[in-house]
Amino acid sequence: MERILVEGGVPLMGRVRIKGAKNACLPIMAASLLTSESVILEDVPDLDDVRTMSRLLRSLGVEIFRDRRNERIFVNSRRLTTSTAPYGPVRRMRASFLVMGPLLARLGRARISLPGGCAIGTRPIDLHLKGLGAMGSQFTMDDGYIEAETPCLEGTGIYLDYPSVGATENILMAAVLARGSTVIENAAAEPEVVDLANFLNSLGARIKGAGTPLVRIEGVASLGGGRYRVIPDRIEAGTFMAAAAISGGDVIIENVIPQHLSAVIAKLQEMGILVEETGKGFLRVRSRGRPRAVDIKTLPYPGFPTDLQPQFMALLTLAQGTSVITETVFEKRYMHVEEMARMGARIRIEDRAAIITGRQLLQGALVQAADLRGGAALVLSALAARGFSEIRGVHHIRRGYSRMVGRLRSLGGRIFILPS
Ligand code: UD1
Repeated sequence: MERILVEGGVPLMGRVRIKGAKNACLPIMAASLLTSESVILEDVPDLDDVRTMSRLLRSLGVEIFRDRRNERIFVNSRRLTTSTAPYGPVRRMRASFLVMGPLLARLGRARISLPGGCAIGTRPIDLHLKGLGAMGSQFTMDDGYIEAETPCLEGTGIYLDYPSVGATENILMAAVLARGSTVIENAAAEPEVVDLANFLNSLGARIKGAGTPLVRIEGVASLGGGRYRVIPDRIEAGTFMAAAAISGGDVIIENVIPQHLSAVIAKLQEMGILVEETGKGFLRVRSRGRPRAVDIKTLPYPGFPTDLQPQFMALLTLAQGTSVITETVFEKRYMHVEEMARMGARIRIEDRAAIITGRQLLQGALVQAADLRGGAALVLSALAARGFSEIRGVHHIRRGYSRMVGRLRSLGGRIFILPS
């Protein structure tokens, strides 16, 4: 198994360009199932999760070609050969479940293995099923698979008990080709939901209100083809911002939408880190010594994103004073804590809260990534720690970061991949 080797203590300096958003790209790829016309997607990051989604779509009969150099993919879903999404890709990546809505809309049936993905707490799919059920779909469970069937999807009013990103996206995709209009109340307002809606509208869908808790979709008979550029990844941007700060560096982050990062920028500034917009789509992040302790609560957008909680915890382990992070989105998203403790971090977990007593220094250690963002956080800790660290479980990091090691090295980080 590959490992990452880091010699900490070098401030990161220079510029890094942010890739297209993984969490926008995956639903948009799934949504390409809704049209029999060709779609070209641009700024598609080179990630394991994107490869998993491509493999899943191919297994359904979709044609996909990838132009890796130009970060483009070509998708054509004219001839779907099956409505079964098999165990392999679905086990590997929870976002595979996003093919449920499009398959139901396109074929009137779907058979999908129960989802897997990062082990960060119970991740039920009840809200997806409740919404699609209200639109007329019937579900049965058999042999680890969920089977869904509907003679015709009907638009309706759906209130989500929680603004789930995946449930909002699945319902929205199904509603695009349903009969009549659908209203989703308490919908997720994440920028990735907006990007999915913009993509579908560019193909001829009629979606209004994406980005607010009330989304209205007027069903249409069919969608056309087109070309679409995915938004920049706010989580990747936030990770590099935290990397700049934790290493005591000065980094310009290119290709960002600062509004998508309001909560993140506010927290960095509260810590005493300088963040300034230096041009359209450019943010400069500059450290001014040890950060100040702050409290963070993860929440649905526009709140602080749970996908940056581990990286910001890494930063706070070196803060002056005691910080409290409260994780309200995924209750078990603290798998990185024990590994950070191996580097000398002082963190106590009490129910959903992590109490972090900042220290002056971390010490390099051998640590194991157990999930994607937790793995990124360990890399950040290692960049700041004294001496050498070895990070195992690199495959988790590859799911969501393209060339993370090479890009950190181009900022001056002493970081290398050790082949297996
Ligand atoms: C998406 C993101 C993930 C991010 C998360 C929250 C993708 C591919 N993944 O995941 O990176 O961490 O949003 O911002 O976009 N829930 C239910 N019932 C459901 C669905 C969800 O109770 O039917 C709960 C979950 O257990 C969790 C919370 O809702 O506690 C948030 O989950 P959700 O917003 O659905 O996250 P995902 O779409 O899985």
